[in-house]
Amino acid sequence: MGSNGLWLTEWLSEAVSLAPGMRVLDLGCGTAVSSILLAKEFGPRVWAADLWISPSDNWDCLGESGLEESVMPLRAEAHELPFADGCPPPTHLRPRPRRSPKPKPAREAVCVL
Ligand SMILES: C[S@@+](CC[C@H](N)C(=O)[O-])C[C@H]1O[C@@H](n2cnc3c(N)ncnc32)[C@H](O)[C@@H]1O
Repeated sequence: MGSNGLWLTEWLSEAVSLAPGMRVLDLGCGTAVSSILLAKEFGPRVWAADLWISPSDNWDCLGESGLEESVMPLRAEAHELPFADGCPPPTHLRPRPRRSPKPKPAREAVCVL
């Protein structure tokens, strides 16, 4: 949906070592193209969360990708995420200024594109 969504996703994926077994919250995923890319290329489980885009529409798109086991579409309001008490806060990733240091590898990642 964003003009450079896929490019930004690839760029962000260089900042963390994504791998099978990891969990990624793709917050504001839009049509979940970035979620599909992350799951397909790096193998984490991805929660594809968006407020305005229907998770049912994203689910239908997933059927074509064969990633129903890896990508879970859901509707979520970014300011009211229902994390459990005591749940470790996810690492928050954003595109960073060119000269800022590379973030440390994270076990959990939130992508905001
Ligand atoms: C510019 S689009 C980017 C979509 C996608 N990340 C991409 O790059 O193609 C921004 C998305 O953020 C979602 N969004 C905006 N405010 C939100 C909020 N408060 N909580 C969850 N999603 C939100 C919108 O529904 C929209 O799909």
